[in-house]
Amino acid sequence: MRIRRAELGDARAIGSIYNHEVVTSIATFDIVPWTTSDERSWLERHQGAHPAVVAVAEPRSEHDLLGAHGEAVLGFGALSPYRERPGYATTVEDSVYVDARHRKAGIGRAILEELIRLASAHGFHTIIARIGGRNEASIALHRACGFEWVGVEREVGRKHGVWLDVVELQRML
Ligand SMILES: CC(C)(COP(=O)(O)OP(=O)(O)OC[C@H]1O[C@@H](n2cnc3c(N)ncnc32)[C@H](O)[C@@H]1OP(=O)(O)O)[C@@H](O)C(=O)NCCC(=O)NCCS
Repeated sequence: MRIRRAELGDARAIGSIYNHEVVTSIATFDIVPWTTSDERSWLERHQGAHPAVVAVAEPRSEHDLLGAHGEAVLGFGALSPYRERPGYATTVEDSVYVDARHRKAGIGRAILEELIRLASAHGFHTIIARIGGRNEASIALHRACGFEWVGVEREVGRKHGVWLDVVELQRML
């Protein structure tokens, strides 16, 4: 497995991993699955200072999600602007998603470590993780990568008929 920058040829695989969470979980507060056009525009926005990365491996099964260069895409992550106002420009927010069939194998950690490295290399000062629904796996992942607890925004989201908290963690760079 290796981590590389995401390319437009990875858009469909990224969208499949993401849409699984849109439909089945509270990991994202999106409610309507991305279209192929959403996938491409998301990738186009995640170039340069706010990149997207993918975890890829040699394909092994017909069920693999194929990305650019015929590689199997196991997960992805990205840095995004934290807030629009210019005073926040030195802060980024991260996101990490691993294909449900490949979890608990160190892939999320490898993606997040690469995002931290890129954020530092790109001159950002701090990374925020905003984690919906008190998601234990994501909290454990971020803690394992040196993020510290900031606090809880109570019941700021609603999905699948329930109120959802957002937990915020932060890592200084
Ligand atoms: C959160 C997520 C990215 C973790 O990816 P992963 O590849 O399974 O994580 P890793 O195997 O790299 O594990 C990283 C750490 O988190 C811990 N962890 C992972 N899943 C866990 C779980 N379900 N419960 C408790 N701890 C967990 C691991 O033990 C590991 O800690 P360690 O390195 O100290 O042993 C993955 O569960 C996922 O994609 N979930 C759905 C999408 C999502 O919630 N994304 C985050 C949005 S904020």
